[in-house]
Amino acid sequence: MKKLMVGNWKMNGSLEANAALIGALLQDASAWHCDVAVCAPAVYLAQLQTLLAGGRIALGAQDLSAHESGAFTGEVSAAMLKDLGVRYCIVGHSERRQYHQESDATVALKAQRALAAGITPIVCVGETLAQREAGQTEDVVKRQLAAVVHTNGHCISEIVLAYEPVWAIGTGKTATPEEAQHVHQVLRAQLQAASQHANRVPILYGGSMNAGNAASLLAQPDIDGGLIGGAALQASAFLSMIAAAR
Ligand code: 13P
Repeated sequence: MKKLMVGNWKMNGSLEANAALIGALLQDASAWHCDVAVCAPAVYLAQLQTLLAGGRIALGAQDLSAHESGAFTGEVSAAMLKDLGVRYCIVGHSERRQYHQESDATVALKAQRALAAGITPIVCVGETLAQREAGQTEDVVKRQLAAVVHTNGHCISEIVLAYEPVWAIGTGKTATPEEAQHVHQVLRAQLQAASQHANRVPILYGGSMNAGNAASLLAQPDIDGGLIGGAALQASAFLSMIAAAR
C-alpha cells in the first residue's frame, strides 16, 4: 500500500507561518512516493484550502463534533469540514482523550460522523506509560479500536488507524520499530477479524517520529505511514520523513 505521511500541527501556526511551511513543502512535491496530508487548526482550514488547491497535500482537521448540528457552542461539524474541502480528520487523539475526557464511545461516534460526511477519520489509539508498564498495552488499544468497530461495522475498512503510544508523544522517546510493529500487527489482526477489506486500512505510527527514526519505523511490514507532531512543523524535517516513505 502507498504510505501516508500526516502532519498534525496541533495548536501551532499563524497565517504567515502556514503559508511559508506549505510553500516550502510544495516545492518538493514532485519527488514524493507517498500520500501527504496536514491536519491544521480549524481556523486555518479556509486558508489551507486555498494554499493546497490542486496540489499534492491533502487537507486535514484535528477534531470534529460528535453532533450533527445545532446548539453546541464552539464546535465544528463534519459537514462544515467537508464544506472546506477537508479530506481527513483526526479523532480520538490522546490529547483530546486526556484533556477533554473523550470516551471510547465519543471517539467512535466522531468517526461515524466523519465517515457519514465523506471524511476519512484518522482514529488514534495508544496506551499510557503506566498501562504499558502494567502489561496492558494490547488490551488498551484493542478496547479503543473495538469501540470504533462496534459503532462503524463494515465501514471500518474506510478509516485510517494511528497507533500513538501516549508516552512517546512529544517526549523524544519513540517506540522501537519492533515494539511498534508488534502493536500494529495486533491491530491489523483485529481489523481483519472485523472486515474482509481491512488490509486497505493504513496503520500509521505516531510519537516522536523524526527524520532520524522514520526510515526504520516505516520499514516494518505493518507500519503504513506516520502521524507526526513536532517534526512536521519544520519543512526540512517533514520533507526528509516524506522522502523516507516509499
Ligand atoms: P510528536 O511527533 O510531537 O511526538 O507528536 C505525535 C502526535 O501526537 C501526532 O498526532
